[in-house]
Amino acid sequence: MKMKKMTALGLAALMTLSILTACGSAKTGDSGKTNSAKKDTLTMATSADFPPYEYMEGNDYKGIDIELSKAIADKIGVKLEVQNVPFDSIVAGVQAGKYDFGMSGITINDERKQSVNFSDPYITAVQSIIVKSDSSIADKDALKTVNKIGVQTGTTGDSDATKDYGEDKITRYTVATDAVQALMTGKVDAVIIDNKPAQEYVKANGSALKILPTAYEEEQYAAAVNKNNEDLQKKINQAIKDLKADGTVDKILAKYEANK
Ligand code: ARG
Repeated sequence: MKMKKMTALGLAALMTLSILTACGSAKTGDSGKTNSAKKDTLTMATSADFPPYEYMEGNDYKGIDIELSKAIADKIGVKLEVQNVPFDSIVAGVQAGKYDFGMSGITINDERKQSVNFSDPYITAVQSIIVKSDSSIADKDALKTVNKIGVQTGTTGDSDATKDYGEDKITRYTVATDAVQALMTGKVDAVIIDNKPAQEYVKANGSALKILPTAYEEEQYAAAVNKNNEDLQKKINQAIKDLKADGTVDKILAKYEANK
């Protein structure tokens, strides 16, 4: 099981790369400008490097956001097309009308609210710090003494770490998996990433890594929607409400052991 996961995560990195290359020819949606009521497919952008929310298993997309967005599309009565893109291009792509919405463990924050609208929140999370098991770094404050902190570009982990420890200490990775890989190979001393993915990466790497207790503020994940597409925002909110009420959200969380 451990091995299987590890391979899956390794593959996720590879897949992301190949998909990024293929991405240049991706079709451009027009939902930003027009009413999406007549569309029969919604394009959802995600960065599939973030288990248990979105990751690759072979050629398949897996994870809570993937299943939830499919369930949302079903409720709305449309098909779903998932596009795997770098995390830091999701909000901009949704804003530009390239994707109908983004679902990628995206934390609601004021900066992003200037570019996109958010659905109602569907998950809460906090940032975690991962270090090597034999590391002497014991807590958030001890990170002030290290030289290199790895983060995924454009995430709240990135902005928090930059604020707390200064630009000079931050090493940014486009793909989250690469940040964890850099920690494994000693290129960075710690990685700041959301709590559930932190747990998954630690699990996938045997006993090589550990999570430090931290005191970061709670964050809320929501879908990002183009500001001109309030119709879709409303439909997503209604779908999330229905999927919470009928137990689908709980079922998906339980499937990925993310309900506790
Ligand atoms: N919650 C964090 C943020 O919104 C990290 C999300 C990263 N998501 C991903 N699929 N890699 O910035």
